[in-house]
Amino acid sequence: MTSPTTLSTTTLPPTSSVHETYTWLQARLSHVAPDVELQIKAEIVYEIQRLKVEKNAVILGHNYMEPVLFHSIPDFVGDSLFLSRKAAETDKDVIVFCGVEFMAETAKILNPEKTVLVPAAKAGCSLAASITAEDVRQLKAQFPGAPVVTYVNTYADVKAESDICCTSGNAVEVVNSLDAETILFIPDEYLARNVARETGKKIIVPQPKRTTAPLSFDLNGSANGHDQPGVVGWHGRCEVHEKFTVDDIRTVRAQFPDVAIVSHPECSPEVVAASDFSGSTTAMIRFVEKSTAPHYLLLTECSMGDNITASNPDKEMLRLCNVRCPHMNQITLEDTLAALRFNQYEVEVPEEIRVRAARSVQRMIEIG
Ligand code: 13P
Ligand code: SF4
Repeated sequence: MTSPTTLSTTTLPPTSSVHETYTWLQARLSHVAPDVELQIKAEIVYEIQRLKVEKNAVILGHNYMEPVLFHSIPDFVGDSLFLSRKAAETDKDVIVFCGVEFMAETAKILNPEKTVLVPAAKAGCSLAASITAEDVRQLKAQFPGAPVVTYVNTYADVKAESDICCTSGNAVEVVNSLDAETILFIPDEYLARNVARETGKKIIVPQPKRTTAPLSFDLNGSANGHDQPGVVGWHGRCEVHEKFTVDDIRTVRAQFPDVAIVSHPECSPEVVAASDFSGSTTAMIRFVEKSTAPHYLLLTECSMGDNITASNPDKEMLRLCNVRCPHMNQITLEDTLAALRFNQYEVEVPEEIRVRAARSVQRMIEIG
């Protein structure tokens, strides 16, 4: 992968046999996947490609998919923003989303008439699970009039309570587009802190005290209208990115002084500050492709390093694979085949919620 264009079109051309599929995979992936794996997966890939045509389906693949899946069946691969755009544009009848549930749900929000499938029934996300629609309503009551910017890693009912969505790829642009003193930015505390730093705004993350009464917040006086903060965050965290530490970075730099450290903005602000670059998953890939460092350490889900190596055998990726996303890892070629065969697992969003959620997703897409 040497350019944004190749990033967006991982294309296995139509093949006429399992053997031809295997040969294609082997030419690209033999340095990252053993031959026995490629032989087994070639059969599954061939069948998926056949069914994809038969069912008039498009397959969208997030950058965290495992290398053989990532480099074979998706019509488009990328970060959440790019895939939302592709979901909005497609004219296919069926969208198979090789990613987690909130991503597939976003595709459904944009395509109510189409069948949207996610290959694993419970591919969740710790960020999406960290906040409810009721939490948002209570925050809005606490900060009347403040626009709500919602990270796309949330479920439809939370998006429905929001003014605009954002992804890691456009969070700063979205916040800068709003003409407001106070902005609610939910639910990722670290992304909120990183965005506040980049936009030069003050940040406060209320500490919720969960009681039977409505949520109350410890805001050092900011909640009562005085000294309002610029960005009000929430206490959600990505269970993968929150685990990377500045100590990890120090240790790796001590061993590999010329390493380039690349982090996702779901990492803590301290980790982001100690990195050489931070950006969305696609921005991270582009950084590595353009840079000439002798080693790279990606502070994100580990599969992405394998995907970069597959396309760029000359890049030396160091591994910090002690933390994997248990949700993204559920999406396999086998389950994608079952998804197409049995029409599973179909994503549904109640129409009343979908219409409101669509407004905030569409508004994000229009920002660019
Ligand atoms: P991107 O939008 O950067 O692809 O991130 C999605 C995600 O879930 C990262 O953990
Ligand atoms: Fe959610 Fe983190 Fe997994 Fe991304 S890596 S899907 S933010 S749990």
